[in-house]
Formats: sequence, structure tokens, C-alpha cells
Amino acid sequence: MAATVGRICGSSLLKTNPVVVRNQVNCFSSAAGWTKGRKTLYATIGALSGGAGALLFALEQSVKASDLELHPPKNPWSHNGVFSSLDHASIRRGYEVYKQVCAACHSMRFIAYRNLVGVSHTEAEAKAEAEEVQVQDGPDENGNMFMRPGKLSDYFPNPYPNEEAARAANNGAFPPDLSYITLARHGGEDYVFALLTGYCDAPAGVVLRDGQYFNPYFPGGAISMAQALYNEVLEYTDGTPPTASQLAKDVCTFLKWAAEPEHDDRKRMVLKALYIFGALLAISYYIKRHKWTVMKSRKIAFKPPSKQ
Ligand code: HEC
Repeated sequence: MAATVGRICGSSLLKTNPVVVRNQVNCFSSAAGWTKGRKTLYATIGALSGGAGALLFALEQSVKASDLELHPPKNPWSHNGVFSSLDHASIRRGYEVYKQVCAACHSMRFIAYRNLVGVSHTEAEAKAEAEEVQVQDGPDENGNMFMRPGKLSDYFPNPYPNEEAARAANNGAFPPDLSYITLARHGGEDYVFALLTGYCDAPAGVVLRDGQYFNPYFPGGAISMAQALYNEVLEYTDGTPPTASQLAKDVCTFLKWAAEPEHDDRKRMVLKALYIFGALLAISYYIKRHKWTVMKSRKIAFKPPSKQ
């Protein structure tokens, strides 16, 4: 029984089925078999979507060109490149700038004082930094909240209790949290640097509302943050001349570290991986040659049986 079924099925499978074969040829070849109507339909759809794409592109370009917005120039950061780590002296100075200037308006709620240890400060220094701020803690045994000096585990304090208070103090604009700002803006630290150093007089025809300043790098040009960095707005503890561009460069390096604290480790891992995989690749190539050499150098010859 099974043998009969098998024979019938087998023979029908082996038979060439003219319909299936013709369909396959049609599907995988060209548009030769299409009707004229179908060809026209596809051509029209193609032309329309191509035209719509071109129109969108042209519109977007014209919007960009009509704006007063500048693209931030690329700066030669010392941490650019595969083999370069962040400049930790600069991170430390950048922290000073953040603490003395930016922290008046911007929070950094994802960075704790313990994160500074081993990066820009020793443990004792980071503890001293933390103790300078007052943190609300509690409740105590009477159920009251109380203030205490900060600890290493505390996060950087928020200058405002909530977003509404921040907006009220800044003409309705909200100073964004700076923890991830270099990742959150197109251009990263180049953008932040250009923004901090790019303030200038508004060109003719640009009307700024009260509390707005002109900055060509800010989308739209009118920013609600006044210029924050000027020459000698603070003094560095390591004696570096505090020019506006130095302050901006240092705070950008600090913000870059804050957004990507794994930056140095990441590059070190890549280096190690390159070394190890490089060695493994060389070894595998040698072994491959070694194993195949017998196969590749053999010769197969046909020797006709000698006639007798
Ligand atoms: C007086 C308060 C104040 C100070 C000080 C201040 N900022 Fe701001 N900042 C703001 C406000 C307000 C905004 C929002 C601006 C807007 O949306 O128009 C802002 C926006 C920003 C932005 C975001 C721009 C964008 O693309 O959205 C960055 C980056 C920034 N500030 C960096 C800094 C840095 C770095 C410092 C310290 C050197 C600093 N700010 C000091 C008030 C301040």
C-alpha cells in the first residue's frame, strides 16, 4: 500500500508541471509579460513618488537656506580620534565652570558626586565638594524633613524645585538638564561650544522679544539664555588663563564626559579588541594555509588504462 502511494506521489512530483514552470519564469524574469495598462500604472506611480521626493528635498533645502541658522564648525578636540582619551584636567576645570556658572540655571540630575571620584577629583576632594551643598533628607524620628550636608552618593543639586519655577525665572524658557546635552543635540560638544561662544548682535530685521538674545547657532536664532561666559568670569584653581573660549572648551569636555562616562574605557576596549582579533586573524590565516596546503597542491590526473 505504502509503496503504491509512494510510487503515485513520486511520479506526480517528478512530472514537469507546465503551469508551475511557466509561472515561475514569468515571476522571475522581466516585465515582458505585463499588460500595457499595468506598465503605465507602475510608470505613473514611479514618476509621482520620485517627483514627491524631489519636491520634499527641495522644500527642506529652501527652509534651511532661508534660516539665519549656522552649522557649528568642527573643532579639533583632544579626545577626537580612536586612540585619544578625554583630557581629565579639562574635565576638572569644566566642573568648576559648571558649578560656578551653569549650575545657577541648569540641573545635572544624573551625575552624582561619587562619579567625580577617580575622574577629576580624589575621593576626599569629591567629598568636600558634596559637603558644600545642603540636601533635604528625612524624615527624622519626629517625622520632619531636615537639611544635611551632601554626601558622595548625592546627585548634583537642582537649582529650581520644579520646571514651572525654572520657567518663571527664565522668561518662560526651560533650561534643559545638561547631563546628556552633548548627546541630545546635533553636533554634540561642537554645538555647545559654538552656542556658548557664538553670541552676537542681531542682524537687521530680526526682532527679539524681551529676555531673548541672538545666537546664530541656536535653531531660530532667538535664545532665552543670556551669554554666560566672558573672559575672566571666574578663576581656575590650577591657574589656567580663564578666557571665554577656554571656559567653553573646558565645560564642553566636562559635559562630554558627563554624557559618555564610559568614553575612555570604550576606546581602551576597542584597542584591546583590535590587538586580540588582529592576532587571531593572523593565526587563523596561518592555520587555514597549513590545513589546505595538501588539498591545494594535489594534482588529479586521469591515467587511461594501458592498451594491451
Ligand atoms: C541665567 C541662566 C542660565 C545660565 C547661567 C546658563 N544657562 Fe544655558 N540655558 C538657559 C535657558 C533659559 C535655556 C533655554 C533657552 C531657550 O530654550 O531659548 C538654556 C539653554 C541651554 C542649552 C540648550 C540649547 C538648545 O539647543 O536647546 C545649552 C547647551 C546650555 N544652555 C548650556 C549652558 C552652559 C554650558 C552654561 C554654563 C556655561 C549655561 N548654559 C548657563 C539659562 C542659563
